[in-house]
Amino acid sequence: AKIIFVTKDNDTITTEGTTGSVMELAVQNKVKGIEGNCGGVCSCATCHVHVSPEDWEKTGAPSELESDMLEFDDNVSEYSRLSCQIKVSEALDGVLLKVAQ
Ligand code: FES
Repeated sequence: AKIIFVTKDNDTITTEGTTGSVMELAVQNKVKGIEGNCGGVCSCATCHVHVSPEDWEKTGAPSELESDMLEFDDNVSEYSRLSCQIKVSEALDGVLLKVAQ
């Protein structure tokens, strides 16, 4: 699926992935602001993204554990997700994610 990231500097990076998590895809493509420090186990929030509202249905809402983690981030919005908790699949095709930090 094609997954588009917009960084804080307003760079648009279009990536293509089939497996793994959205965080891993971002790290592979050196998307600035996505670090994935905890390795994708939902405990660092350095993979925080804001999903574009029209794509929210594609990614779905965060789990309870993920929401708890997001509460520690002061830049949280109603469209916040931790990208390590989003699985890359064809269902995500065309999704636009704004990097939170
Ligand atoms: Fe740590 Fe996503 S990589 S919470």
